[in-house]
Amino acid sequence: MRILITGATGFVGQALCRHLHEQSHELLVISRHPREAAGTIGVPVTAHDSALAFEHDTIDAMINLAGEPIFDKRWSEEQKQRLIDSRVETTRALDELCQRLATPPKVLISASAMGYYGDQGEREVTEETEPHDEFAHRLCRTWEDEARRLEAHGVRVAIARIGLVLDRDGGMLKPMLPMFRFGFGGKVGDGTQYMPWIHREDLVRAIDFLLTREDLAGAFNAGAPQPVTNETFTRTLADRLDRPALFTVPAGVIELALGEMSRLLLTGARMVPARLEAAGFTFRYPELDQALAAIVQRRR
Ligand SMILES: NC(=O)c1ccc[n+]([C@@H]2O[C@H](COP(=O)([O-])OP(=O)(O)OC[C@H]3O[C@@H](n4cnc5c(N)ncnc54)[C@H](OP(=O)(O)O)[C@@H]3O)[C@@H](O)[C@H]2O)c1
Repeated sequence: MRILITGATGFVGQALCRHLHEQSHELLVISRHPREAAGTIGVPVTAHDSALAFEHDTIDAMINLAGEPIFDKRWSEEQKQRLIDSRVETTRALDELCQRLATPPKVLISASAMGYYGDQGEREVTEETEPHDEFAHRLCRTWEDEARRLEAHGVRVAIARIGLVLDRDGGMLKPMLPMFRFGFGGKVGDGTQYMPWIHREDLVRAIDFLLTREDLAGAFNAGAPQPVTNETFTRTLADRLDRPALFTVPAGVIELALGEMSRLLLTGARMVPARLEAAGFTFRYPELDQALAAIVQRRR
């Protein structure tokens, strides 16, 4: 297939592109830095900085991952708007491209996040669960609504509500691993908040699954079947590294330091992949300890 990808240069995108390249797909990439894209990704791609540059191409599928990083900067009103605009504008550009293509692609896989559900306390969260209205929910809902517009062109749209993506060279483990290795690991707040997580390899496999299964559309929770609390995550990672995790960062300190963004650390959703599993997807890493073992042991 000829697959157009946004966000291909990112943490998820790089692994996805390597996987799709191994499957002999041809990769077309939209990047703000098209000249560097192939080097960053590490496999051959055709890159441009605008979607419309591909209007005379044949495109079989689209995968939409681009967006301003959620956790890089404090959520000022301006930064919150940037988080929304960066996702809406890249997704809208795909819609505009579909209007110009002789034949629109068959499928769009578009990223969203567990933040769609907002704070859900301890209850189990499936795709049917009513979301809690807060910024993270509004951000994801706006992004998803924009992606669904492509249905008007006859495109099958599948949305992946992604949990915390785990691997060693990016995402949240990148800053956590050295901290825990030095013995400075610890839980955040009271540690009861849920952290839905997914090994990056499983996320790539899930995206590939959604790409090829023509009967699947709508929203899919992309998190491992066993989400854990922050306390369990902390203990499991510390045990895996043979280090203590004695510290607790009090909720008040996090709130003071991060403002509204602190909700990303202090609240969560016990999100389970109900629709992916019902469709027959199996996780290579269903349990956290097993996923962390694979990540920590690699390249040791
Ligand atoms: N990683 C996670 O744990 C996680 C969890 C839930 C959801 N997600 C979502 O999944 C998607 C992929 O995650 P990721 O970790 O791979 O993200 P990432 O590493 O931050 O990469 C995202 C890509 O988006 C593009 N981008 C960044 N800022 C942008 C902006 N202001 N405007 C337009 N494009 C911009 C960049 O591509 P160029 O520089 O090439 O333009 C970047 O490579 C993201 O949208 C993220 O919100 C990730």
